Amino acid sequence: MHLKAMAKRVVDKPRPLIPMNPTLESLRQAAKNCKACDLWRTGTQTVFGAGAAHPKIMFVGEQPGNQEDLEGKPFVGPAGKLLDSALEEAGIDRSKTYVTNAVKHFKWEPRGKRRIHKKPNAAEIAACRPWLDAEISVLKPQVIVCLGATAAQALLGRDFRVTQHRGELLKSSLAPFIMATVHPSSILRAPDDETRHAEMQRFIQDLKQLARFA
Ligand code: URA
Repeated sequence: MHLKAMAKRVVDKPRPLIPMNPTLESLRQAAKNCKACDLWRTGTQTVFGAGAAHPKIMFVGEQPGNQEDLEGKPFVGPAGKLLDSALEEAGIDRSKTYVTNAVKHFKWEPRGKRRIHKKPNAAEIAACRPWLDAEISVLKPQVIVCLGATAAQALLGRDFRVTQHRGELLKSSLAPFIMATVHPSSILRAPDDETRHAEMQRFIQDLKQLARFA
């Protein structure tokens, strides 16, 4: 490629706007204008992480859903309600934790009048990663909890399998510990009440591992 064209591509490529010496608030403000991937075009707003200023536990989901996109806060829709009940059962106060997502815009496709969740791709996850890294480095949690395969593969590598290692507290360079478990939406999608109840109990057992950090 011609040098001039290469330079233009570099200039054109939108980059995350991570501020120098960031605070959570300066990150939140800067993230509002992020155009590092195309999801800003169809999302209502950036849904940045939310929670305690000094959390020991940080939860990382996949991406905001329909309700999160409209309200601008993570895990406030049906999956968030399920997370709230599981945390309560596990004896963990959500307000003392921090909750965020691997991707901070809602990716969706229309189906009739509804906006249906669409899985973020590797490029979108990579484009958003600097925000997640900045949240981790500002907040310094004791444990990061990946909710579902997207967060787990973003933070633990593409070969990581939640099914094989769920609930295991692993040492990590990102935080003293990292753990992966299922995404709350997977419990909502259980085919019947009995399976849903069993899956919820397993999820609560996984979360109970975190009680010592709470
Ligand atoms: N699912 C997620 O992964 N994150 C949210 O914030 C809501 C639903």
